[in-house]
Amino acid sequence: MSTITIRNLDDSVKQVLRERAAARGVSMEQEVRDALSESVAAAPSAQSQTWRLAASPDEILALGQKSEKSPRALVDAGQKTVPAMTLSDKRILLIIGGGIAAYKALDLIRRLRERGAAVRVVMTAGAQEFITTLSAGALSADHVFTELFDRNDEHDVGHIRLSREADLLVVAPATADLMAKAANGHANDLASTVLLATDKPVLMAPAMNPRMWAHPATRRNRATLGRDGVAFVGPAKGEMAESNEAGEGRMAEPLEIVAAIEALLDAGPKPLSGRRIIVTSGPTHEPIDPVRYIANRSSGKQGHAIAAALARLGADVHLVSGPVNIADPAGVKTIHVERAQEMRDAVEQLLPADAAVFVAAVADWRTENSAGEKIKKVAGESPPTLRMVENPDILAGVGHHGQRPGLVIGFAAETQGLLRNAEAKLVKKGADLIVANDVSHESGIGPSGVMGGDRNRVRIVSKAGVEEWPEMTKDEVAARLAALIAERLKTTVV
Ligand code: CTP
Repeated sequence: MSTITIRNLDDSVKQVLRERAAARGVSMEQEVRDALSESVAAAPSAQSQTWRLAASPDEILALGQKSEKSPRALVDAGQKTVPAMTLSDKRILLIIGGGIAAYKALDLIRRLRERGAAVRVVMTAGAQEFITTLSAGALSADHVFTELFDRNDEHDVGHIRLSREADLLVVAPATADLMAKAANGHANDLASTVLLATDKPVLMAPAMNPRMWAHPATRRNRATLGRDGVAFVGPAKGEMAESNEAGEGRMAEPLEIVAAIEALLDAGPKPLSGRRIIVTSGPTHEPIDPVRYIANRSSGKQGHAIAAALARLGADVHLVSGPVNIADPAGVKTIHVERAQEMRDAVEQLLPADAAVFVAAVADWRTENSAGEKIKKVAGESPPTLRMVENPDILAGVGHHGQRPGLVIGFAAETQGLLRNAEAKLVKKGADLIVANDVSHESGIGPSGVMGGDRNRVRIVSKAGVEEWPEMTKDEVAARLAALIAERLKTTVV
């Protein structure tokens, strides 16, 4: 095993690492470790992609700035693939709020421009504390707007024109303050005035401390903005930039924001328009007492990706999600539940539907009676015995329901006898298709396995036989499954 010495890296790369580490309050070694893990997790395939750990200093400079790229962005700068021009001719006004996540907005600009969008940037005073207008301007190749009144500015196009000339306004990061201003119609700086003056759709990517996100004032503002028609992507749960802080409030990743933008602006043909589809995703948590629960390793990534892919094809998607650490998918109505029984109730209330896809790893059992108070250790007494009872089988319930959707799809996670078990589940649960995946020890669990990882290799089992799909990312599996669902539903009249 070889070692990497930070001292031997190029000065420009060291500088980037030093600044990124300082911004996150971690050591340079930790920053390198995180960048490496992130790049490995993000790499679609070791065989099919050419990866370098960092862009050359020239490439960093060519990206418009050299000190504000995230390590991930540096890695991506070395990537050879060119994304499809899904946003060509689209004009996006990006409002960057003042938060540590502002550095991700720089990556977002690059991602949007790679896809053909023209990006114009407004930065709040707070945003300028975190990143410079120079960086945003270099990446957007346009003037960056910061002032409400700037009569001397030759670029001043006025807030009305700024807000109306775009196809979409994106606020990233949407800070608690920006959300509060927008929810209450304030217009005391350029960002809030543009938001008040616009007649175009608005997408917000909130980012803030978990306590600020959970505060009743922010919850009120979020609800008001939702009623006003503002779309949201994120926030996700996870580690915050402040050390020792974790929870919900982390800004969605730039590619998630891009996907939300693509979904909002997509004017292409929609094969699933008018179709109502239910998707379950994630694990369930079955309480033992108020602080302990039984869970499993499902991340929700595959189910959420399927919900998002169906929404992109125009479906009216209702996602019933167990507790997960990823953001609600854009363009999808998400209901959050904890327990299997809650998931079953939520699903049944959503019937009738054209199709239902059961991706959730539902706990098969729950404790017979979860304790009302925390179970205490008592000296000299033996540990408590958990009596388990079976949970409702949600898929089987819907597969044999009086209001059974025309298309019912289940998943089968197996550690052995994959096809035999999948075929048995097809019949027993009344499904039309079973998506079977191997979660055996060799390929199944952990960051590089199916459960928790980003890739999947599935077989589609139906009465007609078994179709093997090659290994691909969970997003690719989702897109292909959504296309299959659209194909299957074509023959059914809306
Ligand atoms: N499923 C469900 N409700 C349950 C258990 C499973 O809806 N209580 C669904 C899952 O969402 C998945 C399919 O049934 O679509 C198969 O799940 P899996 O865990 O593979 O099978 P189980 O029925 O739980 O059987 P076993 O764990 O014995 O393999």
